[in-house]
Amino acid sequence: MSFPQSRPRRLRQSPLLRKMVQETALSVENLICPLFVTHGKGVRKEIASMPGTYQLSIDSLIKESQEILNLGIPAVILFGIPRKKDGRGSEAYSPTGIIQQAVTALKDRVPDLVVITDVCLCEYTNHGHCGVVKGNRVLNDPTLELLAREAVSHAKAGADLVAPSDMMDGRVQAIRSALDREGFEMTPILSYAAKYASAFYGPFREAADSMPQFGDRKSYQMDPPNVREALREVAMDIDEGADIVMVKPALPYLDVIYRVRSAFNVPVAAYHVSGEYAMLKAAARLKWLDENRVMMETLTSIRRAGADLILTYYAKDAARLLRP
Ligand code: PBG
Repeated sequence: MSFPQSRPRRLRQSPLLRKMVQETALSVENLICPLFVTHGKGVRKEIASMPGTYQLSIDSLIKESQEILNLGIPAVILFGIPRKKDGRGSEAYSPTGIIQQAVTALKDRVPDLVVITDVCLCEYTNHGHCGVVKGNRVLNDPTLELLAREAVSHAKAGADLVAPSDMMDGRVQAIRSALDREGFEMTPILSYAAKYASAFYGPFREAADSMPQFGDRKSYQMDPPNVREALREVAMDIDEGADIVMVKPALPYLDVIYRVRSAFNVPVAAYHVSGEYAMLKAAARLKWLDENRVMMETLTSIRRAGADLILTYYAKDAARLLRP
């Protein structure tokens, strides 16, 4: 059928008509809010390159999380800023580490909120890499044991889901068997399955103080031109026991989200990362873009590509606009 019988504009004539034929919906249940936790009291320190995002001490984290839940956002993902760093990232798996304390406090004070923890070493190591380092190499297999300990310690503190983001081979299997061994067979794993070595993580590394002190993450995170490899990573993680798989970053990798969605039947998450957020914030500050509109358009496009869940620093702002 073609013009003049066919006129797509017929269905675009009014807001309600457009709403009726809308194919993709963004809802508040799709959102996960990332939060940065630090030691101290009464800390609420804004991150320069991520306006509206803060390093929070546990008391401030509880206030913020209550607000997040009141807006209808179901989940947060926590990143920790330790007091001291060392070669093996010991605060990552210490029972009294910042994340372990934060999770315990959150599950006590805001029990309904779903608490996800990022499982990685880079925030806790003095070299800033996501694994154990020997010379200039990041070792895979010796890292697995530490990641498994970290995940178990998060589960013991009460984490509802654990989310490994290190990109070591075999970490999902190592974490799954450690959790099962310790009686956490019902704790789901949200795996950062296709995580690219992206320059869009820049502002996060300021927020979490996790810049690698030498080299880069290209020997473990994925090479941006590859998509078949992403499908292989996702297949392996599902095989090893991942319950939800993530693609990260989101907007520059919408094709990857689409391919993963088409090829697998587990829930797919996408991380709208710090640099993607910072770009929109900067342009909005210059009044070059209408922030609310680009935010909703961006998040909706990530849903349209196939993501069920979106991790975004815009979670609260989007939730306010999504409220009836
Ligand atoms: C830790 C981790 C990173 C992000 C999430 N978990 C940084 C990195 O891999 O360097 C990035 C999140 C963001 O940029 O918003 N490995």
